[in-house]
Amino acid sequence: MDEAPSSPYRRRLLVGGVAAGVVATGAYFGLRHRHDGPGLSTRATRFRNKLRIPGASANLGEASEAADASIVLQTGVFTQPMLEGAASDLWTYTHRNASGQLQHNPTLFARTGARVKVSLENRLGDDTTIHWHGFAVDEINDGSGLHPVRHGQRHDYDFEVRNRAGLYWYHAHPHGQTGLQVHKGLAGLVVVEDDEELALQKKLGLTWGVDDIALSISDKQFGLRNKIVHEIAADDWIGNKVLINWTVDPVFEARPGWLRLRLANTSNARLYCIAFGGDDDANLPFHLLGTDGGLLDRAHRLQSAFLAPAQRLDVLLDLRSAKPGDLLMMRSIDYDPMENDAGVGVPEDPAMEHPGATPMGEDMDLLLIRIAGEARDGGELPAALSAHSVGIREDAKRRPFRLWLQDSGRWMINNWNYHLAHGGDVFEIPRGSVERWDITNDMRSMPHPMHLHGFQFIVTGRTNSPKQIVGQAIDPLGRTAQDMGLLDTVLVWPGETVSIQIDFSQPFSGRQRYMFHCHNLEHEDQGMMVGFAVVD
Ligand code: C2O
Ligand code: CU
Ligand code: CU
Repeated sequence: MDEAPSSPYRRRLLVGGVAAGVVATGAYFGLRHRHDGPGLSTRATRFRNKLRIPGASANLGEASEAADASIVLQTGVFTQPMLEGAASDLWTYTHRNASGQLQHNPTLFARTGARVKVSLENRLGDDTTIHWHGFAVDEINDGSGLHPVRHGQRHDYDFEVRNRAGLYWYHAHPHGQTGLQVHKGLAGLVVVEDDEELALQKKLGLTWGVDDIALSISDKQFGLRNKIVHEIAADDWIGNKVLINWTVDPVFEARPGWLRLRLANTSNARLYCIAFGGDDDANLPFHLLGTDGGLLDRAHRLQSAFLAPAQRLDVLLDLRSAKPGDLLMMRSIDYDPMENDAGVGVPEDPAMEHPGATPMGEDMDLLLIRIAGEARDGGELPAALSAHSVGIREDAKRRPFRLWLQDSGRWMINNWNYHLAHGGDVFEIPRGSVERWDITNDMRSMPHPMHLHGFQFIVTGRTNSPKQIVGQAIDPLGRTAQDMGLLDTVLVWPGETVSIQIDFSQPFSGRQRYMFHCHNLEHEDQGMMVGFAVVD
């Protein structure tokens, strides 16, 4: 039997943070300084690197020809200066565009209904794949570990975009090596557009790359000579630098007006609690426009929102009254990381594996936004963003899942671990059925971002949620604003039960195999994953 590695490196955090609940009222810009630590103008000084914008730099190009044409992405090593001193080696998907320019991890564009044709040429020296995270594709185009592409081989992904407009992503998903390959850099974004989305852009007067930008947020662990390090068999791989679009300590210049940020958490394991603060560090409220699977029916005004690994948030900031020179910091604010699994199965080893990393749950500055230039005209935020809605079905078949930690230190879903099940499918679902999955996380556990391949879902309720989630609930079912959207990844806190409803309709036939797993990639690689099949 294949023994899942039980980590000698389980990270320990001996102190938890407290959830911040700062409420800003009235005029936001120009409030007095109320922060205990250094003020924003002091903290801002380290943010000196211009944020890389997809399309505007070779690293992170844009490839719109992914739809209805075909592009080749070749995996390989790309050396780029990231920190002072030695350049760092990244593993990237590289595309040569029509003018011969090389683009690394290009952002891909597609319309709903278009075909995506991407060929993967593997030059990595090891198995890899492209997993189309969030897309409603068949098994062969899902790019999971079931269909590895060997070194030197080529695989053609070819699928119709059946998803709504939104921010999706692609990443490597080879069996047992996903954490390593994603941490080294094998991930990119996909922007899907449809008529509703284009109408919203027009209404708000947004210009892509100027006041509508995508942010891929991932922390990396830099070691000696600025090498990006990852240890196979480690637990929860967090890093000592947070990169946004591969930029360390990034600054972005925004004009007064609306600013739309499409956030994707492409980190292996780090959970952020996203908020925006100015020099007084009160939170500037923002509008949540959308989630993993596209626009919400209406915008929700929030102070902060959790962004778990693999999740996306579509955020609109009202900077219409900002003045040139104003500063705004996108931050991850304090929260209780609830790592209640400490001490299980393995000896204590307090964070020695990630020298310099900010412990999970502590305040971090992520991106400096500096206001500059002329104000832009933008329309009003429409009351309705999308006509899309999914109702709760009382007749959905219920399926319970329990997330728990064996005394050996092995993460389990019910009595399954992918390694113990030899990668087999542990259940079958008749195509076209609607199911309700009740996902219960043990109290002696930690937050797990649970991800489903091939289908978007809705959250139908949360029970026994911790205080920091109860405080965000906006309906009697215990759901947060983020739960109002379509999701492919949902965060389940210790002690909590989250119910999701999934419609397993799809235009494919035969046996299509998918997986349901924790998107803490080290948990996934250690087998916190189940395989299932959708069948006729
Ligand atoms: Cu984004 Cu199975 O993963
Ligand atoms: Cu996925
Ligand atoms: Cu997990």
